[in-house]
Amino acid sequence: RTKLSRQTERTLALIKPDAIDKKGAILEQVCRSGLYITQLKMCSLSRDLAQSFYAEHQHKPFFNALVDFMSSGPIVAMELMGTNAIAAWRDLIGPTDSAVARSQAATSIRARFGQDNTKNACHGSDSPASAASELEFFFPSKGAGPGNTATFTDGT
Ligand code: PPS
Repeated sequence: RTKLSRQTERTLALIKPDAIDKKGAILEQVCRSGLYITQLKMCSLSRDLAQSFYAEHQHKPFFNALVDFMSSGPIVAMELMGTNAIAAWRDLIGPTDSAVARSQAATSIRARFGQDNTKNACHGSDSPASAASELEFFFPSKGAGPGNTATFTDGT
């Protein structure tokens, strides 16, 4: 056990539009994992905001599909904190492709709630640098960020 292998970290977690109706079960799994939810909000991404959040993928063939999907409905954004939180959260959600997730462990969030590699229930930052910038995107220390502008299917 060294300082390097056990770090208290913060990471950004998203519940994506396909899993918004499963948020209760997902939050329960987060709480059981031992990670702390230190910030949380429900919001919606415009296409512009989704494009800027996923800018690193702008030249990928799936970029437009990803942006369309992520701006298609409400999401939940969370700051999670805990020991090795970045890897811990990515382990908890499982591989990007939900079918691969199911083939590895039936208990991961994507195995339980994901459908494919787009509708895959959750997002997690992949490094300390992306965690810092993604947390600043959703929970800015200054300025507005995406507000609580979710519109619900019942029109509220
Ligand atoms: S890469 O190329 O390895 O960096 O991509 P990957 O990490 O597998 O995926 C990055 C995010 O893009 C989503 N994704 C897709 N969206 C739409 N269509 C297709 N075909 C597709 N493939 C991957 C994937 O869910 C990842 O989203 P996040 O939110 O980062 O988990």
